[in-house]
Amino acid sequence: MHVAATVPAVEVDDVSFAYRGGPSALEGVTLGVEQGAFVGIAGPNGGGKTTLLRLVLGLERPTSGRVRLFGAAPGTRGVRRVGYVPQRAQLASATPVTVREVVEAGRLGIRGVLGPLRAADRVAVGLALERVGLRDREAALLRTLSGGMQQRAFIARALAAEPALLALDEPTTGVDAASQESLAALLAELRAELGVTILYVSHEFGAVEHVVSRLVLVRGRIVFDGDPADLPALWHDPSHVH
Ligand SMILES: Nc1ncnc2c1ncn2[C@@H]1O[C@H](COP(=O)(O)OP(=O)(O)O)[C@@H](O)[C@H]1O
Ligand SMILES: [Mg+2]
Repeated sequence: MHVAATVPAVEVDDVSFAYRGGPSALEGVTLGVEQGAFVGIAGPNGGGKTTLLRLVLGLERPTSGRVRLFGAAPGTRGVRRVGYVPQRAQLASATPVTVREVVEAGRLGIRGVLGPLRAADRVAVGLALERVGLRDREAALLRTLSGGMQQRAFIARALAAEPALLALDEPTTGVDAASQESLAALLAELRAELGVTILYVSHEFGAVEHVVSRLVLVRGRIVFDGDPADLPALWHDPSHVH
């Protein structure tokens, strides 16, 4: 195996964070994620799941502590590519954008200014559409697709960047159960075939419990980190969590 594979995908070391002027959002968070892992991040609304993702991706800076992505500070040159599907990304705008245009935008981070697509861009876009099963819908307007299909378009956009890490923030909100299950299967396949590391945020256990090998429960700090099967029974009770 390549030496780089021994570098963890994510290292969060005793990180605390507060939004400006606000109370602490996260305190004393330490989390290591090996490459190729499929980690579910769950917890109540306001628990800090989105904040944790944003810290990992370098979109927020820790108030104290340190974050490393593939051994380097997030956002620095040379850090391996990350794909991010932000919370509520699946809401289609009124803009008449096609599925293919959404996915092409995933090449922006690699190419800088989006001029005419080069062959490599077109190949990456085509493969991403193929992977999520939207090749035959590429000319359709995004807003004409079902919620589940729109969500797949946003995942394809993230995949078009050929990421080593894929971070999804509540991708199944407002999506039916069948789409949730096929998304889980798609992610498991991506992980197996591409070796991509996946951080999957959900506020529900049910959505992540059966597909991830590790569950991290965030409630201002990490209150559980391990095999979902070892989760104390108490925490399965939704009334306790929400
Ligand atoms: N942009 C922001 N400015 C100020 N406070 C925020 C901001 N985003 C989130 N918060 C606060 O930080 C805490 C964690 O929020 P968040 O990370 O969004 O939780 P989750 O994703 O688990 O619902 C909450 O108390 C929330 O109100
Ligand atoms: Mg959130």
